[in-house]
Amino acid sequence: MEAIIRAETRADYDGIRKANKKAFKGKAESKLVDALRESEGYSPALSLVAELAGQVVGHILFSPIIIKSPAGETPALALAPMCVLSEHQNRGIGSALLRRGLEECRKAGHKLVVVVGHENYYPRFGFVKAGEKGLTLPFEAPPEVFMVLELAPGALAGVSGEVVYPRAFHEVE
Ligand SMILES: CC(C)(COP(=O)(O)OP(=O)(O)OC[C@H]1O[C@@H](n2cnc3c(N)ncnc32)[C@H](O)[C@@H]1OP(=O)(O)O)[C@@H](O)C(=O)NCCC(=O)NCCS
Repeated sequence: MEAIIRAETRADYDGIRKANKKAFKGKAESKLVDALRESEGYSPALSLVAELAGQVVGHILFSPIIIKSPAGETPALALAPMCVLSEHQNRGIGSALLRRGLEECRKAGHKLVVVVGHENYYPRFGFVKAGEKGLTLPFEAPPEVFMVLELAPGALAGVSGEVVYPRAFHEVE
């Protein structure tokens, strides 16, 4: 059976919480998702679930951020978190969530996505090292885990500066 990839509904909230808690072995990511739902600019169209036999087995969320430079502000999205339940990993569900998610971001008119994550996973979807493009993070992280993707060709032209995350990212531990 193939997983269905679709936008979340209210009925998925609990399944999303459970999937994040199990996949990350902790509560931080599920709390982050709940907090981001209350944040400005939150869009259920950019919170996608993978459903298999009526169960949420994976989830991905994109939230609005700003890239701030002395020259001005550029709107972008942050990909965080994403998860697939361990018993369903390595079957392409994460890739399906990411590809469909990026398509929805593009459809909604977004041009840039940043991620702080596995350095060997995201490059296959086109993400490149963000530091090399002149972007910085408001916290310490190894340079290879901070990546950016252009959803529109040339979207990074003339863009540099620090990523400003919604408050929810700083409040949840
Ligand atoms: C990362 C994750 C979402 C991938 O989901 P998935 O459904 O297994 O992904 P896919 O089946 O599409 O892709 C599997 C590939 O991802 C790779 N992968 C899985 N976890 C990885 C990791 N931690 N680092 C690098 N690559 C990873 C697998 O090795 C596999 O590679 P291959 O295609 O070369 O064999 C899933 O492993 C997960 O939920 N992990 C725990 C939570 C997490 O780390 N989330 C991401 C935070 S950045």
